[in-house]
Amino acid sequence: MGGHTDEKSFCVRTMTAEDYEGLRALWMSIRGFAIRSIDDSREGVERFLRRNPSTSVVAVGDDGTIIGGILCGHDGRRGCLYHVCVREDCRRKGIGKAMVVHCMNALRAEEINKVSLIAFTANDVGNAFWNQIGWTRREDLNYYDFTLNEANITAFNK
Ligand SMILES: CC(C)(COP(=O)(O)OP(=O)(O)OC[C@H]1O[C@@H](n2cnc3c(N)ncnc32)[C@H](O)[C@@H]1OP(=O)(O)O)[C@@H](O)C(=O)NCCC(=O)NCCS
Repeated sequence: MGGHTDEKSFCVRTMTAEDYEGLRALWMSIRGFAIRSIDDSREGVERFLRRNPSTSVVAVGDDGTIIGGILCGHDGRRGCLYHVCVREDCRRKGIGKAMVVHCMNALRAEEINKVSLIAFTANDVGNAFWNQIGWTRREDLNYYDFTLNEANITAFNK
């Protein structure tokens, strides 16, 4: 992959509950991001990290600010990525890919053999990214879900 000639000015490490504030600030800066009132609350993220303590990541810039993050977990069989994001002014430096690779290795360490994620079809940047880093877009399946708690309201960032 070309274009990443800059000095590396970030590190990728496992996410902890202490990262919540910085992560939340990052999420709120990402246009079009869907933020869920319960799942993305401090309690929701802490619950997720208790269940999945070793697989989520953050990217941290030189000044200690969180500039990227991925919530990554598994159910004992399949891994899943949520809220994959990099701060707008830090993109195209390999941070997104470095975080995804970190998650994939953390899942392998948990003996998980497959990982998936959902990307909105209209998300051109996201879809270009996944295609470019070698993930397979499935055309042979439909995605089904069912809301179990109507109180978990989704708000889209403007
Ligand atoms: C998607 C996202 C996480 C990528 O982060 P990033 O740090 O810029 O990604 P990388 O630098 O690791 O990119 C790896 C490769 O993906 C491709 N890619 C990334 N962004 C792209 C874009 N805007 N257009 C075309 N290709 C792109 C490129 O091939 C890139 O390699 P290159 O820069 O050497 O050409 C970031 O753009 C983002 O946060 N977007 C908003 C949130 C989002 O849509 N998340 C995905 C939800 S499914």
